[in-house]
Amino acid sequence: MTKQLLLGQVLSFDGNPFETEWTAVAHHRRRGAVLLEGGVIAAVDEADSLRARHPDAEVTDYGDALISAGFIDTHMHYPQTGIIASWGKRLIDWLNTYTFPEEARFADPAYACAMANRTLDLALAHGTTTLTSFGTIHPGSVDAFFEAAAQRGMRVVAGKTCMDRPETTPDFLRDTAQSAYDDSKALLDKWHGVGRALYAITPRFSPTSTEAQLRALGDLWRERPEALMQTHLSEQVDEVEWVKGLYPQSRDYLDTYEAFGLLGEGAIYGHAIHLTGREIARLRDAGASLAHCPTSNTVLGSGLFDLPGLAGKIRVGIATDTAGGNSFSMLRVMAATYEIAQLRGTAIHPAQLMWLATEGGARALRQEGRIGHLGVGAEADLVILDLASTPAIAQRSARAADFWEALFPTLLMGDDRAVRDVWVNGARMAARAG
Ligand code: GUN
Ligand code: ZN
Repeated sequence: MTKQLLLGQVLSFDGNPFETEWTAVAHHRRRGAVLLEGGVIAAVDEADSLRARHPDAEVTDYGDALISAGFIDTHMHYPQTGIIASWGKRLIDWLNTYTFPEEARFADPAYACAMANRTLDLALAHGTTTLTSFGTIHPGSVDAFFEAAAQRGMRVVAGKTCMDRPETTPDFLRDTAQSAYDDSKALLDKWHGVGRALYAITPRFSPTSTEAQLRALGDLWRERPEALMQTHLSEQVDEVEWVKGLYPQSRDYLDTYEAFGLLGEGAIYGHAIHLTGREIARLRDAGASLAHCPTSNTVLGSGLFDLPGLAGKIRVGIATDTAGGNSFSMLRVMAATYEIAQLRGTAIHPAQLMWLATEGGARALRQEGRIGHLGVGAEADLVILDLASTPAIAQRSARAADFWEALFPTLLMGDDRAVRDVWVNGARMAARAG
């Protein structure tokens, strides 16, 4: 089997920079190398040393570009790619006006296939190697996504979106408690652990499910605890009020999931902005994860996620929330993560931003060590970043005093133009003139 040796600047982590000082866990090599063999990372070291030890390897020299673990998007909706950047609405109106009519189109398997392929190509062009996506109510939407990902060798998470509450869902986009259970179970058994596919049981959110549906999906998760579970939590103040009205028995929004068995390790809650103290404590104790969606949260006017307060306590990944969010780029998501944390009084270090987009995402998906990690044995999903991809970025990074100062302009100003190359499962996916 061919060995691939990639040369460039190399950034890797061996710990969590929200728990330990970043200087102790972030490792930068000015002239480093990553050796890939059989789809996994076989070594990370200084370039000279690895070249000498592996003279038979095929070499790709990226010069000053940065080799990182590929980006992990922990919450997105591939069926919404076609309605990205739709004007003028907040969450509930946005769902009814733009989202639900578009999602209805996924009854057509050919449309689902076209949009899955388009979304994955866009993600790869932006350096994202793992996506965690909602489907639509149509099982075929999930097949289309997993098939398109398998063609590219990508590790992805997805699930059939379940929604059955008559007063909050349109007739044309509704399943039932029983069909949600049956379809989710069939898809889970068909896809989970096949190749690089991972299944997530996916109630859209409490307002669009009946209690019977949440219970059925909680039962399924108890029967298949190896699956993940994804949904939305406390995104907008109006939505939290709405949930109170729909679930008068519940202590809070999280309780609408907890009461039906939809809280635990492997649960990934998107947004989680307006949390109570009880919810934070339960999320932490249960080992659940949060997907911070900062670009979406500003576009839809949702609020300021408390990353500084939560990242040290709870597993947090970051996410585009395509298409509430207005970009496929995890670099744009890192910029928004930085900006929102500044509004909450904390400057997130570039090492912490890169960790969130890679290792933090893997932890949120309970895939740590397997993806998002530049270390021996991890799956070989990589992004290569040009740290001088535009004239504005280049002139700033040229006067940087150290690596972090050279990296930060790309995190704050970069987009797909910064993505020089992408490797998925040890195979080169895209090459751009650099
Ligand atoms: N809450 C329930 N569904 C959605 C969705 O599709 N996008 C966002 N941003 N929030 C949701
Ligand atoms: Zn979402």
